[in-house]
Amino acid sequence: MALFCNIIISPKPFVLSCSYQKTHLSKTPQNTKQDPIFKIKGPATLSGHITISGSKNSSLALLAATLCCSGTSLLHNVPNISDIQAMASILSSLGAKVESFDGKMMVNSDGVGKVEVDLEEMRKIRGGFFVIGPLVARFGEAVVALPGGCNIGKRPVDLHLRGDGKVWAHTANVKGLVGGRFRLDYPSVGATETLMMAASMADGITLLSNVAKEPEVVDLARFLNDSGASIEGAGSDTLVIRGKSQLYGSECVIRPDRIEAGTFMIAAAITRSCISMSPVIPSRASCLIDKLSEAGCKISQVDQHTLRVSAVPALYPGDDLKSFGIKTSPFPGFPTDLQPQIMSLLTTCTGSSLVEESVFDNRMSHARELQKLGARIQVNGNSAIVFGKDKGSSLCGSRVIARDLRGGASLILAGLAAKGTTEIHKIEHIERGYENIVTKLQNLGADIERSTLPLLSSLV
Ligand code: EPU
Repeated sequence: MALFCNIIISPKPFVLSCSYQKTHLSKTPQNTKQDPIFKIKGPATLSGHITISGSKNSSLALLAATLCCSGTSLLHNVPNISDIQAMASILSSLGAKVESFDGKMMVNSDGVGKVEVDLEEMRKIRGGFFVIGPLVARFGEAVVALPGGCNIGKRPVDLHLRGDGKVWAHTANVKGLVGGRFRLDYPSVGATETLMMAASMADGITLLSNVAKEPEVVDLARFLNDSGASIEGAGSDTLVIRGKSQLYGSECVIRPDRIEAGTFMIAAAITRSCISMSPVIPSRASCLIDKLSEAGCKISQVDQHTLRVSAVPALYPGDDLKSFGIKTSPFPGFPTDLQPQIMSLLTTCTGSSLVEESVFDNRMSHARELQKLGARIQVNGNSAIVFGKDKGSSLCGSRVIARDLRGGASLILAGLAAKGTTEIHKIEHIERGYENIVTKLQNLGADIERSTLPLLSSLV
């Protein structure tokens, strides 16, 4: 693949003015003297039904893709979370008009004239880096910072920047991209998405192989195709992309967040409860469904987009949920974004289990926090042995710190199962990715509240 452009990764942050209209998304108050926390009183029993929000990671990719389109793009079912706010600010900093209302986001990028991204915002989220695809396709260059996101490993961007050894090569006088062949060394989700956007506007045909098969890639292909692109093969390991000189804004409903759905499925399991949820795309959750079923949960499909998860003790009289092992891997393997939550569940199952993380190289920091709640976990590099409960022993509430988004979610789940009060600090990590998590859990019967503590007394 010979996509020619100029990308500058700037070490110096600077702030550009932001015209993002805050009609729907409310920013977390920035009071430096207060430390927002979640307080959970357990053990909880959950019941009822919850609505799953739109996918965070699909929304981030589609928002970047709106930069490929002339005219207005309208996205429905976008979650109201801080990562989306950061992405909206990035688009605005480039000159796009972004409006949000009632879970919808309308983006018009006709006025985009800059190639310099708001570097402060970019350092907050991983998804911000995706804009290099549209920017180099439209302008031949992009000025970006290394992206932020959860601290779960090294997370380089080499695959985004490289292709055939030369993709994105610096050239002084070539503007516009030329399609070609490129094989990713690893099926990176973000790199697949970045290259898909760039190739959709490149001149000629691009063949991308060993690409990510994640549902979010399929969602992005659907949106780009609806906007006039020609992408074949999304969901398989090879994409054939016929470049188009112009894409046009279209309308799209963001698919349900499979990781949020998975987190609530595990919430039902860890509290030995029964809840239902919709909308869910069951084929996107099959790995988790298999594992929870192996443990003893009963998962039934109520209708096309509704799942019921039951882990009530009547299912397994005299026994309890059994331990099982997981090894994370790219889709359709076990999702890395559910590994921390599963670790929490395993601390409450009978027997011991092996948890192996193979996608990121440092995604075990939640184990230390779970230990503060009484969990017995032995971490060795990217593997952990989780010792399930002895008869009579269980988790006990304590003060813990959310170290990253999914690790934070694992602490909420553990807090629901623990006896007594669990206080979770650094919840800004959790609020990056879960919309209304407190209200949703309260509606299921959990005793959880968001409150603030003076900063000094919050030191854990
Ligand atoms: N990698 C490279 N070079 C690259 C890109 C990735 O070596 O250029 C490596 C990474 O270091 C990592 C592995 O490839 O070890 C997988 O990374 P990938 O690129 O697939 O992940 P990502 O695009 O950075 C997205 C999600 C993550 C999710 C992963 C895997 C977004 C914004 N983020 O990240 O979501 O864990 O795919 O499914 O789409 C989350 O939501 O909590 C989250 C971390």
